[in-house]
Order: sequence, then structure tokens, then C-alpha cells
Amino acid sequence: MSHDRFLDLPKLDLPTAPGQVSITAPSNIALVKYWGKESGQIPKNASISFTLKECLTRTTLSYAPIDHREKHSSGLDGHLSFEVYVSGVLKPEFGDKIETFFQRIRPYVPWIDCFSWRIDTENTFPHGSGIASSASGFAALAGALMGLEAAWSLSKTSAQSLIEKTSFLARLGSGSASRSIVGPMMYWGQHPNLIDSSDLFAVTLSQNLAPVFLDYQDTILLIDKGEKAVSSTVGHNLMHDHPFASQRFAQAQKNLEQLLDILNSGDLMSFCQLVESEALSLHAMMMTSNPSFVLMKPNTLAVIERIRAYRKAREIPVCFTLDAGANVHLLYPSAYVGQVLPWIKEELSVFCQNGQFIEDRVGTGVKII
Ligand code: DP6
Repeated sequence: MSHDRFLDLPKLDLPTAPGQVSITAPSNIALVKYWGKESGQIPKNASISFTLKECLTRTTLSYAPIDHREKHSSGLDGHLSFEVYVSGVLKPEFGDKIETFFQRIRPYVPWIDCFSWRIDTENTFPHGSGIASSASGFAALAGALMGLEAAWSLSKTSAQSLIEKTSFLARLGSGSASRSIVGPMMYWGQHPNLIDSSDLFAVTLSQNLAPVFLDYQDTILLIDKGEKAVSSTVGHNLMHDHPFASQRFAQAQKNLEQLLDILNSGDLMSFCQLVESEALSLHAMMMTSNPSFVLMKPNTLAVIERIRAYRKAREIPVCFTLDAGANVHLLYPSAYVGQVLPWIKEELSVFCQNGQFIEDRVGTGVKII
């Protein structure tokens, strides 16, 4: 499948007056991880995630038509005109990241040149909680732009093509953002067992999913809220010369194949084994790259030990996964909330910074509000 299909634009009736669109987009948590990519945001292996419900970015995208002569005389030719506000505060430091995003998506949404933009954004999760906001942030921005394109289109846009192009654009901001568009789960990256899978956009997994996963819980234990020592971008790059890279990419493809069976059968203990092994493989890649780095903290390991002991003793299918950071995502079926939450409060919250954790669960994706 080629990028070209996203170059085909519907006929648009562009507005002549300023306006805005508001949207929320969720974060997601990968079960099979994306770690390693080629240029153009092409993943080295397929990944799959739960779309979350509570950890959201809310974005209002405001536009004002630009007179092109004005743009020329103000020296803006070639650049987009935009400002970014986070929780009401102007953030010029986000300029480069957003400019790169706009430049990448420009061929597919050339009409963005006709406006000046103001992006107002805020997250529902605490700032500096160690939860990456790039997935929800770029999903929100892509969703807002596609909301406008669909509203201005003179022909009807199908829901399917709207989801695909939103995911395609979000991927160009951050790879994992491609999987934050709809729920309950999305996969991204070509995989032989998923005929509709693509490196260019994520696809919804809803069929063949055991009902237990539709409202799976993700309680995020905030172990360390500090800035990450190594960014995801640097981590992805370190996979280029990594001694275990090819084995890791093959392992992820195989894990995804097995996970698809588990998601279908609802075999929760196998789910726990596989998801934990994926999380630890991700961190093993970090610990064996050159230079190496460790994002887990002592409390991450303390919590992991307790989760495994609790699962064994109680035979309750709780397991952990990790992002590129120290926080622990505790995954379990909603039927066990009554047992697991009190245990988290009593035994695990002491390992969290300020005792903090976020009660999240599987959600439905971006929403225009
Ligand atoms: C560990 O999507 O943040 O969360 O494409 O460079 O923006 P970029 O990377 P990013 O990487 C996410 C890595 C991960 C695993 C995952 O979400 O699959």
C-alpha cells in the first residue's frame, strides 16, 4: 500500500471566516511494543495496544484564513503560521516539533497553508507524570484537522477512510499516536496474520476479541514522575545498530501472532505471561543498547515482584506492562476491581510517588466535542 492514496483530496469548500474545532484523544498502552523504526515513521515490527479512556489530551484548534499576499510580505513563505498554548500558557518550545509535524503532513492536507493556526491543548493526566503525551497529543491534532477536512468536504467522507487518514497523519507526529484513534484496540505495522495491517496507519481490532477485554482495567502506578532520561526517539534510533535487533523484531511478530489467539480465546493467564514478557523485552533492548540505559527504578521492580506473587497466590489474572519509563501499568479484568483496587491502595501505592496512581480502562478513541 502506498502513501499516494492519501494524496487524493476531496473537493473542499474552505471557510472565509475564522473558526475552531475541539476534540479529545486518548493515550494508549501497547501490549506488543513498537521499538525500532525506519525513516518516514515506518515501524520495524507490528504492535498492538489498548486504547485508554481517562488519560486524554483535549485540544482546541482555531484557524483564521490567511491572505497569501500578506503571508508573502511577512516572510512566512514555506512555513506554517501557528502558536501552541498548553493549559493557557504560550509554549514556543513546542514550535519545532509541531513545525516538523506540519511539514510532514502538508502534502496530504495542503489546505493547512491557507490558515494561521492556534493550538490550545491540555492533558487530563498530571503534567510530568511520566505518561507520554505525544500519542494523545498528535492523535488530537490529527483528529481535529481531519474533523475540519470532513466538515469542509463537498462529498461525504466514509468513517473508515476518516479513521485511516487520521491514523496516517497522527503516525507522522508520533508512531504510537497512530494507535490512539479508535477503541478498544488498534494494531499498526504489517503482519502476515492480519491481512488489512499496514505500516502507514493503525487498524481497529474489534472482531475476534473476547468480551473480557472490552472493559479491561489499566491502573497506572506513578512510580517516577520525573523527565525521562532518554527520549523514545533516541531509543528507537539505538535499535539501528543493536546486536539483538533482528531477534527482537522477529519475537514481536511472533508475540503478536500468539496474542491474537489469546485475545480471541480469553486465556487470561497466557495473556499475563505474554504481556509481561513483551514489557521486559522492551526494557531489555534499552539495557543492551549502546549506550545502554535503564528506565526502570527500584520501585518498578518492587511492584513487579508483588504483582507476580499476588497473581500466583490469588490466581487472579493481574499483570503488568511498561512504557518507555518507570511507571507500571497494571492490567486486569473489570470483574476483579473489587479485589485488586484495595490491594493497590494497601500494598502498591506506597511505591508510587506521593502514593499516586490513575484508574484507567479501555476506551473508545477520539471524540469531537
Ligand atoms: C515504548 O511513539 O513515542 O511506548 O514514533 O518516535 O514518536 P516516536 O515514538 P513513540 O514510541 C513509543 C514506544 C513505546 C511502545 C509503544 O507504544 O508501542
